[in-house]
Amino acid sequence: MKFFIDTANLDQIKEAQDLGILDGVTTNPSLMAKEGITGRDNILKHYVAICNIVDGDVSAEVIATDFEGMVKEGEELAGLHEQIVVKVPMIKEGIKAIKYFTDQGIRTNCTLVFSSGQALLAAKAGATYVSPFIGRLDDISTDGLNLIAEIRMIYDNYGFDTEILAASVRHTMHVIDCAKLGADVMTGPLSSILGLLKHPLTDIGLEQFLADYKKGN
Ligand code: E4P
Repeated sequence: MKFFIDTANLDQIKEAQDLGILDGVTTNPSLMAKEGITGRDNILKHYVAICNIVDGDVSAEVIATDFEGMVKEGEELAGLHEQIVVKVPMIKEGIKAIKYFTDQGIRTNCTLVFSSGQALLAAKAGATYVSPFIGRLDDISTDGLNLIAEIRMIYDNYGFDTEILAASVRHTMHVIDCAKLGADVMTGPLSSILGLLKHPLTDIGLEQFLADYKKGN
């Protein structure tokens, strides 16, 4: 299972990278704005800065919603760095753009996916990643994890190569449940990754081991 961090915050990306278990980064326009990164030039520079920190894939989202605009922006984003994956919204023009990018050998992440039908279309278009937003489904009292299970079954039925990138992960149980269901990737905040470390018995056990060591030394 790949671990991506879902942020545009360089300190958090460095912290996750330093752990040695980070496989990539996802961003979106809201995450960029949260870090105060505005204006096309600054945004493009920020993507390159992220690529220079991590070893893996970095999703960079197009803003255009028409086919020509998406192609122009996506080609520019893909040209920034070899680690860039072009993030395209799940709309009709987006599917056309994903198919175009696939044919050009440009990797894509189909974002804002909320149903298995949308995920099926993304795979048909050849998306590298499909991003079902599980937390946002949970927010409206719909089982986000069930969507991961449905997409897993559909992709396995036909051997689609598109990787299931569980997005909108909010906490550690989402990470664990996505792993149980066979998501290929999860993207979440740093807290959802660091939370996996925690267990009170680990803390108690370590404290005891250190105390016992001190007795004999
Ligand atoms: C995915 O790539 C999105 O950036 C992200 O996971 C959205 O998460 P949110 O619902 O917590 O905003």
